[in-house]
Amino acid sequence: MAISYPQQVSIFEVGARDGLQNEKPVTTQDKIVLIEDLAAAGVKRIEAASFVSPKWVPQMADSADVLAGITRHKGVTYSALTPNLKGLELALDAGADEVAIFGAASESFSLKNINCSIEESIERFIPVMELAKAKNVPVRGYVSCTLGCPYEGEIAVSEVARVSELLYKMGCYEISLGDTIGVGTPLNARRMVEAVAEVVPKDKLALHFHDTYGQALVNILACLETGVSVIDSSVAGLGGCPYAKGASGNLATEDLVYMLHGLGIETGIDLTKLVNAGNKISHALGRQSGSKVARALSE
Ligand code: HMG
Ligand code: MG
Repeated sequence: MAISYPQQVSIFEVGARDGLQNEKPVTTQDKIVLIEDLAAAGVKRIEAASFVSPKWVPQMADSADVLAGITRHKGVTYSALTPNLKGLELALDAGADEVAIFGAASESFSLKNINCSIEESIERFIPVMELAKAKNVPVRGYVSCTLGCPYEGEIAVSEVARVSELLYKMGCYEISLGDTIGVGTPLNARRMVEAVAEVVPKDKLALHFHDTYGQALVNILACLETGVSVIDSSVAGLGGCPYAKGASGNLATEDLVYMLHGLGIETGIDLTKLVNAGNKISHALGRQSGSKVARALSE
């Protein structure tokens, strides 16, 4: 049986947010340089900021300064996380092009991450969606714990589909399916995506797989066969989630781009420039890049 993959994949780069929210603090200037380097490498969708409580995630407290400091590249979207109305108001003031709400398929994770139940989070998102719509700002929706929860273990696929559908029906233009703790394996990842695709169109889905168990790349490959063509990744494999114990960074963008280009799938990204961007921020963090491709190409 012939395997078919999409011709193009849209990469949604989360290193400056999902990555840096869970690394030791870097300067605002380091973040600005990273975001500009990513844009120069051809990355078109960059999650640049997070308007969450600075008490909860101090690393993101300079988000408004980051958005104010970057030189915007034409055709690049700079987005921000907004857990509630206050977050959205701050993101709008700072000039975010689009925002994201983030819910979970696990009650325990929802409570730990955003201090409310799943149902309360949906209530909280309603005014966010309303204001964003009034301001013509697109909203992305994340669902965490789609392949497992650090507190509850296995999560029913039906619950992942239910929450995804709720966010989609609220008006999110895309639903990003998070394997927050990177525990998935190819078959269950694919089954999860197929179950969600029954209630949310496939072309509205994105994969957001953390690489804690080294499974992210192979899980993405398995899910690409379903026709999903938007993938979140983090340059240099930066980060994790501060409220998911043991979570490591997302799949490294360099590793993803290397695999996609090898498969003949277009990304519009210049791998050499991307590697340089990842190496620079890794240097600022005083650590080795989390990308194997970046390490191989930098030897
Ligand atoms: P809360 O304590 O329930 O909120 O936190 P509250 O409304 O009661 O407010 C408490 C204080 O926070 C008040 O300040 C508010 O003004 C302030 P105080 O009066 O005490 O000085 N506050 C805010 N400040 C700045 N920006 C805001 C904001 N909202 C309230 N938006 C809240 C609720 C959602 C705010 C909190 O739980 C929070 O910030 N959580 C965010 C946690 C987080 O950022 N986690 C990581 C991102 S999610 C992730 O990484 C997963 C993902 O990558 C997908 C995946 O991998 O699965 C997306
Ligand atoms: Mg994440």
